[in-house]
Amino acid sequence: MHWLNAVAMFIMIASGWGIYNDFPIIRGFVFSDSLRLGEGAEWSLNWHFGGMWLLVINGLSYFAYSAWTGRFRERLLPIRIGDIVETVRETLRFHLAHEDLTTYNAVQKILYIVVLLAGVAQVITGLAIWKPVQFSGLVALLGDFQTARILHFAGMSVIFGFVIVHVALAVLVPQTLWAMLTGGPRVGPSGHGRPAVES
Ligand code: HEM
Repeated sequence: MHWLNAVAMFIMIASGWGIYNDFPIIRGFVFSDSLRLGEGAEWSLNWHFGGMWLLVINGLSYFAYSAWTGRFRERLLPIRIGDIVETVRETLRFHLAHEDLTTYNAVQKILYIVVLLAGVAQVITGLAIWKPVQFSGLVALLGDFQTARILHFAGMSVIFGFVIVHVALAVLVPQTLWAMLTGGPRVGPSGHGRPAVES
């Protein structure tokens, strides 16, 4: 699901940039042709609507699986203020622990929750700008069409910012990348993995 989501997000972001170029939100700012998916806005839109199905079907499967198995509660909660302070302090000292890849630190939990909510927000604002007549109530709730469009662009920026940090950290701690390719460390009865690096 993670890698299918990576493919879907790549399609949605790069095709979104192609759509954006047709009518920029930020005056004078367009994305380079080499970064966009689709030859012209109409093909970018085709990619966007194609990618949408992968994103939504995969996303719904992930949310259903995680809620059903208790994965959300187990991995993303609880988040304590003390843990956040501790994680920030350890990070500034370059002492971030990553022996047990199945346990996320407090900042990781917050970032994962934020990016999941941003994904949901993208679907909601995307529906509003795709079918503004049929979803006129939703558009009104968001303000108006242009506000929904700007929120859709802002959501992309949050997700893109997350991806940059996420990939940079995965490169810094390569065993996480390996675990994501092979299915992760063996999980014991407690639900926690064995140390990723055995010394
Ligand atoms: C079900 C999910 C989604 C739907 C239905 C949807 C729909 C749309 C539509 C209809 C447009 C064209 C807006 C216009 O005419 O100006 C658009 C633009 C765009 N989308 Fe999506 N989208 C979805 C998800 C996403 C995701 C996940 C991302 C990125 C993470 C994304 C990024 C963009 C960007 C950057 C644009 C260009 C913004 C603009 O200039 O309007 N979309 N989307």
